[in-house]
Amino acid sequence: MKRHSTNRVALVTGAARGLGQVFAERLAQDGCKLVLVDLGPCEQTRGLVERAGSSAWDIPCDLADGDAVERLIGQATAATGGIDILVNNAAFQPMMAWHELKAATLRRILAVNTEASFLLAQGFAPKMIERGWGRIVNLASSSAWAPPPGFTGYIASKMANIGLMRSLALELGDQGITVNAIAPGLTRTEAAARDVPDFIWERVKGQQLIHRVGEPRDLVGAMSFLCSDDAAFITGQTLHVDGGAVLG
Ligand SMILES: NC(=O)c1ccc[n+]([C@@H]2O[C@H](COP(=O)([O-])OP(=O)(O)OC[C@H]3O[C@@H](n4cnc5c(N)ncnc54)[C@H](O)[C@@H]3O)[C@@H](O)[C@H]2O)c1
Repeated sequence: MKRHSTNRVALVTGAARGLGQVFAERLAQDGCKLVLVDLGPCEQTRGLVERAGSSAWDIPCDLADGDAVERLIGQATAATGGIDILVNNAAFQPMMAWHELKAATLRRILAVNTEASFLLAQGFAPKMIERGWGRIVNLASSSAWAPPPGFTGYIASKMANIGLMRSLALELGDQGITVNAIAPGLTRTEAAARDVPDFIWERVKGQQLIHRVGEPRDLVGAMSFLCSDDAAFITGQTLHVDGGAVLG
């Protein structure tokens, strides 16, 4: 059985760099056309998608802004005819002492990481329902199971994504739409390498069963599989791709 049909359209948020970029590249290799969403243009990712033999629409959007998210849904639907695969990957992940976390910052974290994921799923689901096929994948984080210090708002948003994923999996289960989460362990993207202090890298490696740092390429197979036809009977699940930090 062919796992991916060509000409499906996948929208990846946070596609300019890091995991979003490698997810977009892999979905292009799988035969999907891409909608690339980030704060600014995603030229580098578009290049990777084209090198994989596909094409991309590049739609900048600040996902913290609900009106902008509504516009994105309209633009993406008009341009593509409908999104088949939604990958809610973008995240705002500031590190700060929990007692310094202000309400406005917490609201922005929840808006980007969770609220936008809900609005995009709600906005794109009707076409998926019409077609009787859809895939929604939310990015969680293994760190939500064993939180490091300094990420209170981020951890709250990632656990909220699990609840959102489970609830939507129920609502959409009989429509041919699966909704799942991937929980990466600490993974060496540029942002993580820059922002995460050394002691956390050491601690996380110690907690894993595979004692090495996760790389972006470790995540792409899981994403590709969950978005494929082969994963049609898998929904409401959190797939930990974390070297065995959290045991199933
Ligand atoms: N790298 C890790 O160690 C790790 C571990 C666990 C979970 N994750 C999750 O994986 C996903 C990707 O992580 P990453 O390391 O590639 O992060 P990253 O910071 O490299 O990329 C996140 C992307 O989201 C975009 N973004 C942020 N705010 C936005 C907004 N308001 N509107 C639109 N786009 C916005 C950024 O511009 C960036 O391109 C995130 O959901 C993250 O929580 C990552």
